[in-house]
Amino acid sequence: MIAVYTLSSLRASVQTMSSFSFAAAPLSALRVRRKQPIARDIVRFELVDPAGADLPAWTPGAHIRLLTPGGHTRSYSLCGPVQARDHWAIAVKRDANGRGGSVSLIDGVQEGDTLTMLGGDNLFPLDTDADQHILIAGGIGITPLYAMAQALALMPTQSFHLYVCSRDAQSTAFLSELQQAPWRECVSVHHDGGDPSQSLDLWPVLETPSAAHVYCCGPQGLMDSVRDMSGHWPAHQIHFESFGAATQGWADNQAFDVVLQASGRRLNVPPERSILECLRSAGVAVASSCESGTCGSCKTGLIAGQVEHRDLVLLPEQRSQHIMVCVSRSIHGGTLELAL
Ligand code: FES
Repeated sequence: MIAVYTLSSLRASVQTMSSFSFAAAPLSALRVRRKQPIARDIVRFELVDPAGADLPAWTPGAHIRLLTPGGHTRSYSLCGPVQARDHWAIAVKRDANGRGGSVSLIDGVQEGDTLTMLGGDNLFPLDTDADQHILIAGGIGITPLYAMAQALALMPTQSFHLYVCSRDAQSTAFLSELQQAPWRECVSVHHDGGDPSQSLDLWPVLETPSAAHVYCCGPQGLMDSVRDMSGHWPAHQIHFESFGAATQGWADNQAFDVVLQASGRRLNVPPERSILECLRSAGVAVASSCESGTCGSCKTGLIAGQVEHRDLVLLPEQRSQHIMVCVSRSIHGGTLELAL
């Protein structure tokens, strides 16, 4: 499969990643060619164009947004290989305590089904001005970093090391691929057995800043840890992606109302839905991309109300006047008034 693309074409593709967007290649449906369990509670979906055409080119770190059978919009990183054009692959972890998107996709979608694709983007691109890369993955956060590792392994001028953190071997997506890869010496896998005290100590990796760029995707705890340990690095060298961290705490959600300032409309936001999803259902257009509180697209003015900010974007001084409607909610079920 690697042989169908030349190194130079792949390098050119990777080097244009900052301008990458699926918007240039609209696609509204994908057919599930293969659905395959690859680890405990993790399923890989192989997606193809229903008409059999090549899919748009993409770059490592890219994600697509899909509509699940239950009506949830979810973003999933493409796993690679980046040079394959006949299919895309995503890996989904079934989270029984989540908001229902992963359960809907895994339980409700079978091979041969067609999924609605709502878009895609790359908010987590590799920086190929650098030639050293530290990739840190936690759990299902391996997906974009596996794509990055596959691409970097094809580029002789680039060096990388991929750190994979997971509970155990059974819960590690792509473990056999990582163990068999020609670049397996560039991979370290660490299992903590579910005991946070046994987490991989990344301080030896991050203690001394270098020219490397650091990419991290995984649970909130891992990202917080990497953020803390890399505070003395140049900020532009540290990159995060999270489609799962912001779902924590959803089991404790309460319903609440939002009032739209311009029209006075009142919308109810049930526990299992985000403000963004409710706005979308009501026909209120709000920009969005990651839907995980990391990209900044859905920043909305806040007129009144107390907000539980769950995003990773807003600065403390911005939080009294703005809300990221994809993840943040009202405190104690109080009404929020939005500048919409
Ligand atoms: S859509 Fe990205 S922060 Fe809300």
